Parts: sequence; C-alpha cells; structure tokens
Amino acid sequence: YVIGLDLGTSSVKALLVDQEGNVCGESSRRYPLMQVKSGYSEQNPEEWVEQSIEALQDLLQQAGIAGNDVEGISFSGQMHGLVLLDERNQVIRNAILWNDTRTSKQCREIEQVMGGRLLQVARNPALEGFTLPKLLWVKENEPELFKRATVFLLPKDYLRYRLTGHIAIDYSDAAGTLLLDILGKEWSEEILQAFDIPKSLCPPLAESGQMVGVLLPEIAARCGLSPSVKVFAGGADNACGAIGAGILSQGETLCSIGTSGVILSCEEDNREDFGGQLHFFNHSKKDAFYAMGVTLSAGQSLTWFKETFAPQVSFEELLQDMENVPVGSGGLLFTPYLSGERTPHVDAAIRGSFVGMDGAHRREHFTRAVVEGITFSLRESIEILRTAGKQITSIVSIGGGAKNETWLQIQADVFQAEVIRLESEQGPAMGAAMLAAVGCGWYSSLEACAQKYIRKTKSFFPRSDRAGIYDELYSLYRCVYPHTRELNS
Ligand code: XUL
Repeated sequence: YVIGLDLGTSSVKALLVDQEGNVCGESSRRYPLMQVKSGYSEQNPEEWVEQSIEALQDLLQQAGIAGNDVEGISFSGQMHGLVLLDERNQVIRNAILWNDTRTSKQCREIEQVMGGRLLQVARNPALEGFTLPKLLWVKENEPELFKRATVFLLPKDYLRYRLTGHIAIDYSDAAGTLLLDILGKEWSEEILQAFDIPKSLCPPLAESGQMVGVLLPEIAARCGLSPSVKVFAGGADNACGAIGAGILSQGETLCSIGTSGVILSCEEDNREDFGGQLHFFNHSKKDAFYAMGVTLSAGQSLTWFKETFAPQVSFEELLQDMENVPVGSGGLLFTPYLSGERTPHVDAAIRGSFVGMDGAHRREHFTRAVVEGITFSLRESIEILRTAGKQITSIVSIGGGAKNETWLQIQADVFQAEVIRLESEQGPAMGAAMLAAVGCGWYSSLEACAQKYIRKTKSFFPRSDRAGIYDELYSLYRCVYPHTRELNS
C-alpha cells in the first residue's frame, strides 16, 4: 500500500491505496481557520501535525492492515502558506494562509521594485496569497519575529518535516512563493537580493517524486507504521489534484472546486506566459508546468451561504433544491468575491453581490445563483486560455463541484465544453498517493500509474438551448464587477 496525505485548508485527508489503484481506506480530521480580522486567515501548524497523526492512526485501524504493508507516503497541501521556524526549528508564529489578503501594500512594493522582471523570473505577478508578500509583511510588521526566523516552509513541508525530521520543499510549492526562478528551478538570487531576504531562509529544493527521508521512529510508532516507510516530497494541492485526475499532458484541463476553485491546464512547454493573467507554476510531474486561474471563494461561497442561511440542511439537500429553479435562477446573479478575487480581477478589496432580487425568490433561487456565479467566475479563467489560442473542448471536474449532477451539467453549459466525472474521485490525496506509487517503483511513470488508477465515468455535454442562455448571463455577470468595484474601494 501507499498513503497520500492531503493537508487542506479545512481538514487533512489520509488515503490508503493499493498497487491496483483501489482505495482501501480513507480518514480525515478537521482543524479551525482563524480569521481574527477582515482579510486575515491563519492556522496553528501544531494542529496540522496532531490531526494528521490521528488521521493516519485511524486510517490504519479502519483498514485493519499491518503497518509494515505500507511502503510509501507522499503529500499534497494547501499552497503558499507561510510557516516560519527559529534556529531550533520551532514555529515562530501562526501560519499565514493562501487566502489571507493582508498583504496588498507588500504586493505593490514587489511590483514596483521588480517591474517586468517578476513575470520573467517568477512567471507570476505579486498576489496577496503568495508567500513572498507574507514574508515581507512579517518583516515589516513583526521585525522581532522575522529576525528569529532561520527557515520558512509551506504547510505540507512543515508537516513532512515533523514526520521525518528533514527540511525540504518541492518545486510545485516553491513555485507559489514568488521566490523561485520557475524555468531555472532554483531560488532566485535576484528576487532575494531585491528584498534583502537571506538565501538561508529558503529550504532545500526537491522533485515531488523524490524520496526525502523515512518516518521518525516515534512518529512511526504512534501511527502504527514501519519506520522504514519511504517518504516522498509530494506537491502543491493543485498539482496533485491534477495528477490525481490524470492531467499530465499538454492542454489537458481540470476544473477543481474546493474551498477555492481552479481551472488548470497542463503545459509541457513554457512558451506561453498568459501575460501574467493566469498563474504559471511547476507541475509535480517532473519538468512540466501548469497554467491556472483561481476563484478564491468557490466552495467557500456555498459553505458561507449554507452556514448563514440554511445551517440545518445538508449540502446534498441544499443542492437538490436548486434542481427546481430555472437556468439563470429567475434573474438572480451572484458574484463570489467574499474575500476578494484573483482571476481575472486580481483585486483583494472587491466583495461579492447578489443582483436582481425579487420578492418571489426563495432560498433555492439563491442556492442556484451561488452555484452559477461560482461557475461563471471559473469560465473567466477558461476564456483566458481560449484567448491564448487553446481549444478547451473537454474538462475533468473534481472536488465538491463534481459531487452533484446538476452542477456538473451547469459546468458543461457554462463552460461550453464536455465535462468529465471520474469514477472514484479522491482529489489531491490520490495525486500524492500516485507520486508515492511511482516513487516506490510500482510504475515507470505517472502516466503508466494514471492508466491503472484513474477511471473516467460519465460525461456531461453542453445543451445548446441552455448554453445560449448562459452565454448571455455570463456577459451580464461580467458587468457586475466594474459596477460594484467602487463600493469596496
Ligand atoms: C492556489 C491557491 C489555492 C490553494 C488551496 O494558488 O491559493 O488553490 O492551493 O489550497
């Protein structure tokens, strides 16, 4: 067996997979998100470690297998979050997460100092969620803490460090720091010097599929695993989500709707930089890349809506209700900017809206409007890919958005592309397990592993009558942003 451990934003998921790709066990544990001020989002890294260990214990107990039968473990994790360690490798402050937007000032500074070089070297613009702006925020606002820092890590890298005692970061997560020379695959001296950040603060780099150590004996004993289980570096959750959905060749496209929503296209060459409109990161498949657009509050919008207005019903019931509402939610439009937006607006200040409320609207109209709004927002990323000349005719859909057939059909109609659902959809944890399966030598490549592990089931095709209506609504949706921007500026 191998284990894929996905350290998400709201929970950690441990997945046990055998050589044939069968899921033999799954366990997850939740941890809280601390939002002490508007725009702030932090977590206590200790919680990640404790909850991950519990999830591993539970996984093995449930599956009833001997710990010795597990050959390898790999990781996937929420991207960009900043964990700072002191000289004794103790955590200095809470982790500042990817969805924290306190760093607008630092982003402006980075753009000013680096100019066009940022896009050439780091292949991305400065966005609030990325790691460098967070480092600069701590440097400016908590100088005493910054002085004590001897190394930074990203969330899953900190977890891996606590399980193995080895410090490392993989390229797909390093790419999201804004400190990596993406094509040269090394920390950029130019960017580090420009912001007076010592290179020693950057952890050693590794390939996602590289073995970086074994479990510490005390951790192995607590989890019921063998201390010789091989530990592989793993990758960013979006890269691992792509691997787990078989997105491994040029132009293959993924829609993933979790807390955030993502449209991701695998890029085997590096010719297109999309003018910085899409993120461009190293893939967890060696030497490949991916372009990605992000809707910050995708599933998060639905969670907020449910918790605020329908706490007593389940997600299934909530989504079932929207089936009785016509396409376009009876004239109600929603924009999902609950904590700002990345693609395409790059605007941390914008906030969401419901437009077109009518006395006849009921809860189900609002639910459908939220789902349609999230999907319109993702179409904006697809249109950037199309404008760059890509033919997007088929998209694999994973995450919460792939659990409901009505939503999958909405995706096909709004995206105007075939939308494919997978038979057993396990998200980034499966990608992490596949990195371990290839690392253990079970398969010669991720592609060979994907052939065995990933099964596509049902396709949803755009229906011409609905796609036309959605096209018009999409144009209206795009008008909401410029007209509401001033409300929040
Ligand atoms: C990607 C991003 C999010 C997180 C979610 O740039 O910030 O998708 O990776 O975990």
